[in-house]
Amino acid sequence: MAGVFISIEGTDGSGKSTQVKLVAEALRRENGLDVVETFEPGGTEIGMKIREILLSPKTVNMSPITELMLFYAARAQHVAEVIQPALRRGAYVITDRFCDSTFAYQSYGRGINPELIRQLDALLLKGFKPDLTIVIDLDVSIGLNRKKAASTADRLEMEELLFHERVREGFLDLSKAESRRFKVLDGAFPVETLTKRIVETIKERCNCL
Ligand code: TMP
Repeated sequence: MAGVFISIEGTDGSGKSTQVKLVAEALRRENGLDVVETFEPGGTEIGMKIREILLSPKTVNMSPITELMLFYAARAQHVAEVIQPALRRGAYVITDRFCDSTFAYQSYGRGINPELIRQLDALLLKGFKPDLTIVIDLDVSIGLNRKKAASTADRLEMEELLFHERVREGFLDLSKAESRRFKVLDGAFPVETLTKRIVETIKERCNCL
C-alpha cells in the first residue's frame, strides 16, 4: 500500500511548522493514521549537517549554485532515508518544505534559471513529487516580524524584503501552474481555522480518509 505525501510550503514565518504539527496530530487523533512529520532542509542526520551550513549566518560567500546543490543533497538523503520508506509502509508523510521551496527561493529569489532546477530535480528525484502541496500565503513582512520576535534570523531570513516578496510570488506562480497539486490558503486565518482547512483539503484532494 502506497502512502500519501503532503508538503506544506510558504514564506518564512507563514506558520508552516505549527501547521505540520497540528495537522499531523489531527490526522492521528481523528483518523488513527500513521503520520510522519518531517522538514527540509533536514529530516536526517546528514541533512541536519547540511542545514547548519546552509542556514548559519556565519556562512558567507556561498554561490547560488552551491546553495542549490546543498538543498538537493539534503533532499536526496531525506527522500531515500525517511520519505520513501515511510510511503512504502503506507504512512502519511507531511513535510515542512520540499522541492517547491527550491523553485521559489533559488529561482524566484536568487535568480537561478528554473530549467536548471527542473533538470536537477528530474535527475535526482525522477518525477517524485508530493501528492498535495499546501501553500500558506501571508504578507512577508508579517512573517518576518513573527520570526524576528521568536529567534535570531538565519542566513536566508536575513535577505532583503524584496527577495521574500519574489519568493511569495514564486509560490503563487507555481500554484497556478499546477493547480491540481496545489492549494493556497490564507495564512492570516486563526491557527485552528487554518488547521481545519488543511485537514479538509487533505480529505478532498487525497480522496483517502
Ligand atoms: P525553515 O525556516 O522553514 O526551516 O527553512 C529554512 C530556510 O531555507 C528558509 O528560509 C527557506 C530556505 N530554503 C530554501 O531556500 N530552499 C529550499 O529548497 C528549502 C527546502 C529551504
